[in-house]
Amino acid sequence: MSRQPLRLAVLEAQRVLTDAGVASPRVDAELLAAHVVGVPRERLPMVPLVDPPVVEALRVLVSQRAQRVPLQHLTGTAAMGAIEVAVGPGVFIPRPESETLLAWGLAALQGVTQPLVVDLCTGSGALALALAHARPDAQVHAVERDPVALSWARRNAEARAAAGDTPVVLYAGDVADPGLLGALDGMAYLVLCNPPYVPVGTPLPPEVALHDPPAAVFAGHDGLAVISEVVRTGTRLLREGGSIAIEHDDSHAVAVPALLAARRVLTDVADHVDLAGRPRFATARRTTLPVSPGPVSPGLPSRPEP
Ligand SMILES: C[S@@+](CC[C@H](N)C(=O)[O-])C[C@H]1O[C@@H](n2cnc3c(N)ncnc32)[C@H](O)[C@@H]1O
Repeated sequence: MSRQPLRLAVLEAQRVLTDAGVASPRVDAELLAAHVVGVPRERLPMVPLVDPPVVEALRVLVSQRAQRVPLQHLTGTAAMGAIEVAVGPGVFIPRPESETLLAWGLAALQGVTQPLVVDLCTGSGALALALAHARPDAQVHAVERDPVALSWARRNAEARAAAGDTPVVLYAGDVADPGLLGALDGMAYLVLCNPPYVPVGTPLPPEVALHDPPAAVFAGHDGLAVISEVVRTGTRLLREGGSIAIEHDDSHAVAVPALLAARRVLTDVADHVDLAGRPRFATARRTTLPVSPGPVSPGLPSRPEP
């Protein structure tokens, strides 16, 4: 059979994805075409004609995408900062929303040399590895509870180390464990976290509901079950002057800053919006000032936590 115009195959892909209710049909059609052809998306115009097997490979991927399989499961990668990580079934797909969290964390490290950084709830390792790529002098530690997600993180960490990045230290662990990373207590200059934070029962698109692991998405009736543990553990890990940044649901613009403000050793609590202007992450800094003991009620135990 003769070679065919790629432009027409992309138009057909866009039509199929539009009919399937995919949110960004043109972008997805072009990204799938670029994946099949093996060129960056911006170079598609340089590929006017393709062989019939290429058109067929695109058609197969488009029909899977039309069944709402996530684009990143079909291409096998997701971007974070200046790197890409491998993703697939069993691990949360890193989101563009988290780029602002990463950028804030990198800005918080400006002027600090050889900072110790902790990424709690690391999933594929995206935030930890993007940070290690941007800051080769940082010592980055990352924690994940789910063994399947952790195996994706290991694979990505090995790939990034092989590409020349400073290796990231991975841990199997639960942020609710009071002994988690005990050897690093009071040492972190930055704690980053994109935890599960969606309230149970929230309707979600099929890409998320059917393909992201539920434990990576949902966190109790109010979405705060894991974040409250992250605040406790993250505060313990911070050194004086160190910063914590926690991604949250857009309904949490008051609740998560309030959890941070409730910690007497944290100061400069703020909430931040993502690239779409929605409330997306809260930050705080561990004070360098002496902390007063706070009110003590006779007969009650004194507050055990920082
Ligand atoms: C929303 S995903 C984010 C993954 C990654 N940080 C990213 O931005 O792509 C949350 C991750 O936290 C993990 N997780 C959930 N509960 C946890 C817990 N209690 N302790 C440690 N990890 C947990 C999930 O398995 C999941 O991989």
